[in-house]
This record gives sequence, C-alpha cells and structure tokens, in this order.
Amino acid sequence: MLYLYTPDQQECYTRLLREALPDETVACWPQEAGAEAVTHAAVWAPPDGFFARFPNLHTVFAMGAGVDKLLQRKDLAPHVRIVRLTDAGMAQQMTEYCLYGVLHYQRQMDRYAGQQRAGRWQPLETRLARDVRVGILGLGELGGRVATDLVGLGYHVAGWSRRPRSIDGIRCLHGEAGLRELLPETDVLFCVLPATPETQRLLNTDRLALLPDGAALINAGRGALIDEDALLARLDAGCLRFALLDVFAGEPLREDHPFWRHPRVIVTPHVAADTVPEDAVAQIAANLRAQAAGRPLNGLVERDRGY
Ligand code: NAP
Ligand code: GLV
Repeated sequence: MLYLYTPDQQECYTRLLREALPDETVACWPQEAGAEAVTHAAVWAPPDGFFARFPNLHTVFAMGAGVDKLLQRKDLAPHVRIVRLTDAGMAQQMTEYCLYGVLHYQRQMDRYAGQQRAGRWQPLETRLARDVRVGILGLGELGGRVATDLVGLGYHVAGWSRRPRSIDGIRCLHGEAGLRELLPETDVLFCVLPATPETQRLLNTDRLALLPDGAALINAGRGALIDEDALLARLDAGCLRFALLDVFAGEPLREDHPFWRHPRVIVTPHVAADTVPEDAVAQIAANLRAQAAGRPLNGLVERDRGY
C-alpha cells in the first residue's frame, strides 16, 4: 500500500496516483490505513513521528528534489530507501528563475528602479549576454539544465559540481580549487546545490569575498548553503550589487529578518521551482514498476553523500 502525505494537494495527488496506479492501494493522510500494509509513502514535510507507525515501510518518495529534511529524520529507519524527484517539471522553472535574476543584473533593472524613484532619465551602458559570466553551483538535474539553457541564450556559463562533469559549451569545474577558480570570474552566481554536511554554509565570508565587486547572487538551492550574516555584510558594504533569494536558513523568513527590507535584496517565498503533480506521479509510477521488475530506481538518494 502507498500512503500519501501532501496536505496542500491531497485531492489532486490522490486522484492522479489512483489513475496512474489502478492496481495499487493508495491511502492518504489523515485516513487510517492498516499500518502494517503500508510499504511505500509519498510525502512532503510530514510531521515528526509520521514514519514510525509503518513497520513495513521500505520506500519513501519525496515530492520534491531536495531531501535534506528527510535525511535528518529520526523516525526514518536507515534501511528505508528514499527516492527524490528528478526534474519533474522543475528544471524549466529553475531556468526561468535564474534568467529573471540574470536579466535583472544584465539589463540593470535595479539601477533603473533607483533612477525612476529619483525621476532621473539616464540610459546606462548596454551589456550583451555574451559579456555576462554566469557561475552555476550545482550541475545536476536542475543546475545542468539551467546551464545549458543559458548557454543557448548566449551567456558565458561556468558550473561547479562535486565530481568532474562535462557539458557542451560549459566550463565545468569541481572541488575546492574549482570553486576558487570560478568565483572571481563570475558576474552572477546561481546557487542550486543540495544542502548536505559538505555544502553547509559553503558561501561564507571568505568565499563571498572571492566574487568580483558588483557581482550578484541568486540562491534557489537551500538557505543552509549561505552564511546569511556574511551575505548581509557583503551587501551592506556594497560589494554585492544584489541578492535574489528564494530559500533561507529559517523558513518562513522571520518577520524582523533584515532581508525583508534590505534595498539590495529580493525575497521570494521558496517558489523558484514547484513540483508539477502530473510529472511527479508519472515518475513515482515508473519507479514502482521498475522496483517490481527489479530494475534500478530513478532518483534513488545516496544517504551517505546527503543527496
Ligand atoms: P541533483 O541532480 O542531485 O544535483 C546536485 C548537484 O549539486 C550535482 O551537480 C552535485 O555534484 C552538486 N553537489 C552536491 N554536493 C556538492 C558538493 N559538496 N560540492 C560541489 N557540488 C556538489 O539535484 P537537483 O535535482 O539539481 O536539485 C538541487 C537542489 O535544488 C535540491 O537539492 C534542492 O535543495 C534545490 N531545489 C530548490 C527548489 C526551490 O524551489 N527553491 C526546487 C527544487 C530543488 P555531482 O554532479 O558531482 O553529483
Ligand atoms: C523544493 O525545494 C524541492 O526540493 O523540490
């Protein structure tokens, strides 16, 4: 039996899952299900203790790409497989989000907004896409697609990953040395890494200082990737032109957080890329078929590496 916990979209997911899996029993929270019959769960942010009541649970489908929260849970036994979504309609949205920030920088929308407030008519220097260097941290399902799309639009793109990668048209770097090489040559830094023990506060004072003066930062990965105080200091000092932030160390962003009213910060409430239910359900159904046939699962999380 597959047990579903997606309170915001319970009806939609239940219907789609039942259509896609006519031979599977699909139960959904808060419906009581015979706890022993539940072998699979499909979830987004279930409450503490949720998994403990299912003794035969062996596979959890995350209804998103990031699994940092699931990996921290005490109620999820180590033998339970975690399967995340790969793309599922999110990659194109990530490109759109990144492109919005890149255009804000390239077409100087922040500066024109300031000029408008001052009633000042002053054309600024034109900058072509090929002269804008975009650095992408994370070259996986989402970052890899963003990188390729931006190259297609004429931007100069470099990317960074854990292991060496090769993507047409993109300068691919990896490891600490690669990051130190990428940052000083980046005008707009787009961060779409998973939050893992290794990436925790990756963008700290030292690394943020490697960005050229006047660079912009976009974070759509996780808030834990950035030392927020260090970021505020760089923004206050005017070293960073602006930051477009979708994810935060604490969500929702607390009411008195300086990001809300900072003139160089644009805040969005964790909406860079939403799961598309039809795509998510198609992926879960395909994985259930693969599992039944003994084939490898798409999106199986490697718990040891944290993503
Ligand atoms: P993915 O396919 O697993 O790709 C992760 C990328 O990060 C890979 O290129 C990986 O390197 C790299 N990476 C991981 N640890 C690293 C390290 N220590 N140093 C350097 N690179 C490292 O994940 P994805 O599907 O692209 O998703 C990425 C993240 O986006 C998710 O985990 C989630 O946090 C975030 N996200 C946010 C939203 C939103 O709305 N804001 C929506 C969806 C996802 P390798 O290539 O070497 O493995
Ligand atoms: C959203 O943040 C996701 O990880 O899918």
